[in-house]
Amino acid sequence: MGIWQLSEAELGLLPDDLTGLDALELGCGTGYVSAWLERQGAWVVGIDPTPEQLETAARLRSRHSSSVQFVEAVGERLPFADNTFNFAISEYGAVLWADPCIWVPECARVLRTGGRLVVLTTSPLVVMCSEDYEADGAATAQLKRPYFGMGRTEWPDDTKVEFHLTHGAWIDLFAEHGFRVERLAELRAPEDAVTRYGFVDAKWASLWPSEDVWIVRLMP
Ligand SMILES: C[S@@+](CC[C@H](N)C(=O)[O-])C[C@H]1O[C@@H](n2cnc3c(N)ncnc32)[C@H](O)[C@@H]1O
Repeated sequence: MGIWQLSEAELGLLPDDLTGLDALELGCGTGYVSAWLERQGAWVVGIDPTPEQLETAARLRSRHSSSVQFVEAVGERLPFADNTFNFAISEYGAVLWADPCIWVPECARVLRTGGRLVVLTTSPLVVMCSEDYEADGAATAQLKRPYFGMGRTEWPDDTKVEFHLTHGAWIDLFAEHGFRVERLAELRAPEDAVTRYGFVDAKWASLWPSEDVWIVRLMP
């Protein structure tokens, strides 16, 4: 998972047994995380608002005799009844592209009590150490942007809006919507790791966390 393609066997982020879980992927893109969950025994629904991504996901599904269900929707407005799922995940999907003040409570609504949410996204440290323009290079060893006030983030060379929260803001938001934080995993890349993304390099990510994984559970 993530931009360094670290395996779940190395990371140990997901429940040991996914058999029979009703799982939801928020912002499934090509659906590779959904497909992996299904191979582990979960019933999986992936949502994504981008038709082209869903077409790719459906094409890949047909090649692998998978029955993951793909639905066109945004993380902020899920077309499911309350208490439908007992596991939810977002790997650079809704967690990065949807407003967390809207999608986190929406996710809590469709999860059953005791259900887990796992999100993997860029660390706030990368955001703080990044130049405004990606063409100026990968994350540096200097703080370029403030920590406080992080949230809705716009880059001058990109029209899309990203959402990045401070660690404290994530903890407060999860608590506000009934989630207890079980773990924050700060992923470390091997120095010789490769990624197709230009915003951070392996040397940097072997020294500082480039990706954060929050594992939270919906409490009664
Ligand atoms: C980096 S991609 C997909 C990540 C996925 N794990 C994968 O590897 O294919 C991010 C996805 O988030 C989706 N996305 C954008 N806005 C979203 C929103 N508001 N709610 C849910 N997903 C969203 C995009 O359509 C895109 O498919």
